[in-house]
Amino acid sequence: MTDEGRARPKLDTSIAHPARVYDYWLGGKDNYAADREVAERVLAIVPEAPRSVRANRAFLKRAVRLTAEAGVRQFLDIGSGLPTAENSHDIAQQVRPDAHVVYVDNDPIVLVHGNALLAGTGSTTVVQSDARDPEAILGHPEVRRHIDFGQPVAVLLLGVLHFVPDDQDPYGIVARLAKAMVPGSHLILSHLTGDSDPENAKRFLESVNREARAVVRTREEVQRFFDGFELLDPGVVPVDRWRPDGPDAMKRFWLWAGVGRKA
Ligand SMILES: C[S@@+](CC[C@H](N)C(=O)[O-])C[C@H]1O[C@@H](n2cnc3c(N)ncnc32)[C@H](O)[C@@H]1O
Repeated sequence: MTDEGRARPKLDTSIAHPARVYDYWLGGKDNYAADREVAERVLAIVPEAPRSVRANRAFLKRAVRLTAEAGVRQFLDIGSGLPTAENSHDIAQQVRPDAHVVYVDNDPIVLVHGNALLAGTGSTTVVQSDARDPEAILGHPEVRRHIDFGQPVAVLLLGVLHFVPDDQDPYGIVARLAKAMVPGSHLILSHLTGDSDPENAKRFLESVNREARAVVRTREEVQRFFDGFELLDPGVVPVDRWRPDGPDAMKRFWLWAGVGRKA
């Protein structure tokens, strides 16, 4: 890792951060009082939040496995979150031991834990960068060291674009990433939605707007992120219904998910 990657991150635990709120719902230990307060506030409105985030992680596993089996050996996981039980590199390297994985997150705690987890692994790294600045990500020395953009790459944007409101050009961000991806590359994406319960989605967004400028998007709006990609079956669907392992679908769902392939 370069000196840039090892720079001592600034960590403010007095303000809730999505990575740590998410960690709390997943049953992790890398969260603080401010994160737990927000997580509990959301649970009062969306009691199925923990189940939704587990479904999102299960989607990640299925999609990464499928992509690796399709021949992809490079993974750029943007808004990767804190390491959990099975991460993108665990899945990808089960299928392809030579797979390279770069995690990107803007929360400094992800860098700290990622570096600890990955100490000694040569083919996986974590960088602190912002999803809203794709050129900084694509040009980061660690990203360049691990990912050859002349070869297919899977770009993961799971549960992160809902932190990019329309005035910060989320579609332009994805289009700029897509431009760097050669044919055979994949886009793996999940996104918060209020489609199955607009009223509670509104309450939920209002309850967190002090901590995060989150937005929900409709299925059509999420589908637009795949412009320029061929959507793999079954298209953009509730996260637990994307090629599910079991029959256990949720009644109310909070995330759309899909996988696209660049032709
Ligand atoms: C809901 S978690 C999703 C984690 C993981 N991708 C998953 O789906 O399991 C959202 C993650 O996006 C990160 N994040 C939010 N805004 C970001 C930004 N502008 N740039 C990079 N990461 C961001 C948060 O720190 C957090 O780790």
